[in-house]
Amino acid sequence: MKKIVITGVAGFLGSHLAKDLLNEGHHVVGIDNFISGRKENLLTLSNQHFSFLELDASDQDLIHHPQLVNINEIYHLASPASPKFYQQFPFETINVNTTGTRNMLEIAKRCGAKMVYTSTSEAYGDPLRHPQSESYRGNVNTWGPRACYDEAKRMGEVLCYLYFTKHNVQIKVARIFNTYSAGLANDDGRVISNFVTQALKGQDITVYGDGKQTRSFCYVTDTIRGLKLLMEKESANGEIMNLGNPNEIPILTVAQLVKSLSNSNSSITFHPLPKDDPKVRRPVIEKAKGLLGWEPRVTLEEGLKVTIQQYKEKLNL
Ligand SMILES: NC(=O)c1ccc[n+]([C@@H]2O[C@H](COP(=O)([O-])OP(=O)(O)OC[C@H]3O[C@@H](n4cnc5c(N)ncnc54)[C@H](O)[C@@H]3O)[C@@H](O)[C@H]2O)c1
Repeated sequence: MKKIVITGVAGFLGSHLAKDLLNEGHHVVGIDNFISGRKENLLTLSNQHFSFLELDASDQDLIHHPQLVNINEIYHLASPASPKFYQQFPFETINVNTTGTRNMLEIAKRCGAKMVYTSTSEAYGDPLRHPQSESYRGNVNTWGPRACYDEAKRMGEVLCYLYFTKHNVQIKVARIFNTYSAGLANDDGRVISNFVTQALKGQDITVYGDGKQTRSFCYVTDTIRGLKLLMEKESANGEIMNLGNPNEIPILTVAQLVKSLSNSNSSITFHPLPKDDPKVRRPVIEKAKGLLGWEPRVTLEEGLKVTIQQYKEKLNL
């Protein structure tokens, strides 16, 4: 049995990962301050091997917490991830990805623990190279509403690089591309949760811009499997890796697909594109295929069908 710390455990990916690791028989110590996560997500984690610390991962005192000793693995997921939340809490987003990441790296160094840090495809900004491989350095605007998230994640990566090169911490960085499932709260503000909730409630499906901008959507089970493989594989130490589904799709097509799969009468309406919204997004996943033997297994249509069904149940429809 390993002792595994997950920051951001009350969030979408953190709660899913914790459930998986508890089912595998590990001891999970979850940390969250509920800035964007939900107490309900912890209900599914009631298990004798789960302990929860309601703490801010960027609190300087965290590294001295008596429960944060003898740790084998750390997944540092804490950070608002939806634009709705990181734009509401820009300074907290910067803190958790910088000071918070450094805290977790210090704990990893002290315990000799392995660590996975969840960075993002947003590290590529509004990319000028397409598709995006890990060697692309990105096109990020420091002077805009997304900068607090994009640049904070990039600085988190810098800290990981320093602890890998200076302190030999076994760190691995995932650049996650859009991940979805019904585990996203209906009001989380991300595209799949928005579209499915709107379609099921018969509300307008709101597309920003003309809908020609593209994204690549990965089902949650694929992303979680990738994060666990990243943790496991020695060959991934000191590496940055894209985790995402290379099936690229225009946003308008996603809206139409959601509408048809949920038999919805909703109209699709168009609204101004937010500033700095990326026009294209598609990961190159050769590195993850080669080093982890990982690639997504769930198609968008399969993932959406399950997601729609589960949202229906959540919404009592
Ligand atoms: N889901 C995606 O599509 C996606 C894509 C790219 C990157 N990521 C990254 O993966 C991680 C998890 O994303 P998610 O989708 O589960 O987001 P989420 O918002 O659902 O979960 C994040 C969790 O972190 C917690 N948190 C935030 N700041 C904290 C702090 N200072 N101390 C303790 N807890 C804190 C929140 O309360 C929340 O429970 C994030 O780091 C995110 O940037 C996710």
